[in-house]
Amino acid sequence: MSYPMTSSTDPLRIGILGAARIARSFVEAVRPSAKVMVSAVASRDSERAAAFARELHIGRVHASYEELLADPDIDAVYVPLPNNLHAAWSIRAADAGKHVLCEKPLAASAAQAQAMFTAAEKNGVYLVEAYPYRAQPQTLMVRELIAAGAIGRIQLIQASFGFPMADAANIRMDPGLAGGALMDAGSYPVSFVRTVAGAAPLRVSAVSRWGATGVDLTTMATLEYPDGVVAQISCSFTTARHRHAFIAGDAGSIHTTYFNDTGADFPPLVDLRRGTGWDAAREVIKTEALAGFLAEAESFHDLVRFGWGGWTGATPAESIDIARTLDAIAASSRGGAAVDVADARGN
Ligand SMILES: NC(=O)c1ccc[n+]([C@@H]2O[C@H](COP(=O)([O-])OP(=O)(O)OC[C@H]3O[C@@H](n4cnc5c(N)ncnc54)[C@H](OP(=O)(O)O)[C@@H]3O)[C@@H](O)[C@H]2O)c1
Repeated sequence: MSYPMTSSTDPLRIGILGAARIARSFVEAVRPSAKVMVSAVASRDSERAAAFARELHIGRVHASYEELLADPDIDAVYVPLPNNLHAAWSIRAADAGKHVLCEKPLAASAAQAQAMFTAAEKNGVYLVEAYPYRAQPQTLMVRELIAAGAIGRIQLIQASFGFPMADAANIRMDPGLAGGALMDAGSYPVSFVRTVAGAAPLRVSAVSRWGATGVDLTTMATLEYPDGVVAQISCSFTTARHRHAFIAGDAGSIHTTYFNDTGADFPPLVDLRRGTGWDAAREVIKTEALAGFLAEAESFHDLVRFGWGGWTGATPAESIDIARTLDAIAASSRGGAAVDVADARGN
């Protein structure tokens, strides 16, 4: 795979496709950065784009996504569209020569995810999936501890993310937009487990509870790995807000929150126990609190300017594994039986 290595010291100029709710948080979080700047926004509705740009002090407005992709003063695009549109617009962005930071889940299926990376490679641009928690110091610390053998050989992983979703008109409740708890919230624990397991599962078994619109409201899945490791993920639109993960090895354990944003309300947590008994030594490790979008966007800048070494997020191989795992979990919860990840076929 060959990519351009542009070592410019100018900020990376980012254009946004869609005046999405999450794009507001993105723009506000990255404003202090000297590495990236949001230069333009496009909307299906030019009035909405203009209002978004006025409110968030964005220099240029485009009346369509196509127009933004043709803007020569944009280096990269941020794609915060409904999940079913991630693949098509990321591929169009790559074909227009733009680097792509695409919201999670990267695609509606592993086949789409593969097509996106093929387009990026063909056009010599970087394309990555946005998981701000991956750029958080608490996540980097967890990864470092595991790599250093602090908890021995990993045996089991549990990760969950849930919150109440009461708005039936939200894109997350629409199966036609690839909504549902698994795709929205579940992509987080699936990606977390992929990060710490270091491999895709072989096989998954899942159970879902379904809502009136046809999307899953709660999903829980068991993931089995070739070396005997097991993981369990859960996600929900019907629970109190929570986000936590637990990793148990044969020599200790770690509890963490893998938050996107850490700060006073969401303190980073790396609660390490070295040892196997009730008396195992406990270390609560302090890590810096950060705005996740800022950390992620600066890492995206480093990726584009300096190559893969600068990127703390999911690699293309990890994103493909995450998409394959999501496909398999969905197939298992629909079919009521365990599914081999290699056999899962997304839409
Ligand atoms: N990383 C995170 O922390 C995080 C958090 C929340 C969401 N997300 C992800 O970000 C994406 C957007 O989520 P959101 O909550 O911000 O969604 P949202 O507010 O509903 O925004 C989606 C945007 O997509 C555009 N769009 C284009 N076609 C559309 C269609 N057929 N229906 C609806 N909207 C359409 C709209 O922009 P225009 O009309 O202006 O073109 C709309 O504003 C999702 O993939 C979600 O998983 C990530």
